[in-house]
Amino acid sequence: MENNININKIEADKQLEIIKELNQRFEEEYEKTGIRKTYHIVTFGCQMNSRDSEKISGILKQIGYVETDTEDADFVIYNTCTVRENANNRVYGRLGHLGTLKKKRPGMLIALCGCMMQENTTVEKIKESYRFVDIIFGTHNIFKLAELIKIRLDNEETGGKQSDLMVVDLWKDTDMIVENLPNDRKYPFKAGVNIIFGCNNFCSYCIVPYVRGRERSRNPQDIIEEVKKLASEGVIEVMLLGQNVNSYGKNLNPPMSFAKLLLEIEKIEGIERIRFMTSHPKDLSQELIDVMGASKKICKHLHLPLQSGSSRLLKIMNRRYTKEDYLDLVERIRKAVPDISLTTDIIVGFPGETEEDFLETLDVVKKVRFDNAFTFLYSKRTGTPAAIMENQVEEKVAKERFDRLLAEIQNSAAKSSSRYEHTIQDVLVEEVNTQDENLLTGRLSNNMLVHFAGDKSLIGKLIPVYLEESKGFYYIGSQVK
Ligand code: 5AD
Ligand code: SF4
Repeated sequence: MENNININKIEADKQLEIIKELNQRFEEEYEKTGIRKTYHIVTFGCQMNSRDSEKISGILKQIGYVETDTEDADFVIYNTCTVRENANNRVYGRLGHLGTLKKKRPGMLIALCGCMMQENTTVEKIKESYRFVDIIFGTHNIFKLAELIKIRLDNEETGGKQSDLMVVDLWKDTDMIVENLPNDRKYPFKAGVNIIFGCNNFCSYCIVPYVRGRERSRNPQDIIEEVKKLASEGVIEVMLLGQNVNSYGKNLNPPMSFAKLLLEIEKIEGIERIRFMTSHPKDLSQELIDVMGASKKICKHLHLPLQSGSSRLLKIMNRRYTKEDYLDLVERIRKAVPDISLTTDIIVGFPGETEEDFLETLDVVKKVRFDNAFTFLYSKRTGTPAAIMENQVEEKVAKERFDRLLAEIQNSAAKSSSRYEHTIQDVLVEEVNTQDENLLTGRLSNNMLVHFAGDKSLIGKLIPVYLEESKGFYYIGSQVK
């Protein structure tokens, strides 16, 4: 442990040194040309990736790049996702277009990173068919970005062919957690905070444990210091991030539960709202439920992926809970936190799913009355146990079930999520509405959005809003003066 902390510190210092060196080069160039180099990051996938993109952005800004909002930039980075096949296809589609752009823009750099890069087949394909890519790195070595840029630029100075210039640095797994590197937050008033990296669950359909590695919890002191610093900078809402936050701290020495971490974060002055994502039902403890019930700051929202309502399929999915366990958990949560909003993820068309299995899923949806559910057609991920299971479900059957599920969710979610209609609720104002600039958009404790008329000076403030009308998945409200 001690040793790891030292190695991590040495690595952080090394990277900061390289950032400084690159920054000097960039400044000299700026003095000559009067032009700053631009960058653009495209983020695919989940909140983990969004958080990683903030780290990438932080490094690039310190090097001297300035952000721009189109891909017509000196440096374009795709932070990729591979959880389902269509996420991969979107990357390849856009990458072709980026290659054309690069031909017209001498000196342009392209980097690919994120989960897709952790798969050998992807990297082989890129090396073969997308040779214009300059840098490839993965999920474990984002902190090395400055070093990789330096290697790529030095390669160019030694005059290699384009195909020799590509810098590929991929790690299978790591136990390193490099702290205190630059960071560029998207919002001044809310922030994501990683608490645990990786996943040990190996749900049989899921690629994540293969591309994000084994579970590694950050030290509680590092997390608490980060949140205190955020609070001192004006952040009032934190989102604690991990593939499975409920197993936080199990491997720390001494171990620490997620519930205990929440109690520590609750004490931090200035933080008014605490969210977390994602919870695995099998690890959600009664201790956590009790802490949520007693907390003034933990938001009234829990994302609790169900995946399937069939105990038979849940077993094959390696989820390690049954339909009854899930329903019992929901009951205990609702008892401790009566007004909680529950959202979920559901997969339709997992190999071997029968009509009976699917009806079990519909049954859970009806019983739980989720506020929202994200539904996914099962996508075969090479390397996972489910990919080689027999009796894969026919696409037509899966799609038909998917539509039936969606109809049920829309029906039940509209009912449960409208329960705050005609009440006054606290709203964290996030931005000017993207469709109508006279409106502001904010978020309720239960994670639903509210649009209401107001002045943009309210952005970043927690204010009471009257919820006039529920529109299913969002509200129209008015400011309480
Ligand atoms: N196919 C479809 N959906 C998947 N998910 C994870 N792997 C797959 C897959 N192979 C879904 C799960 C998970 C969410 C992030 O993505 O529902 O909770
Ligand atoms: Fe994937 Fe399961 Fe881990 Fe979630 S808990 S990331 S679904 S393996």
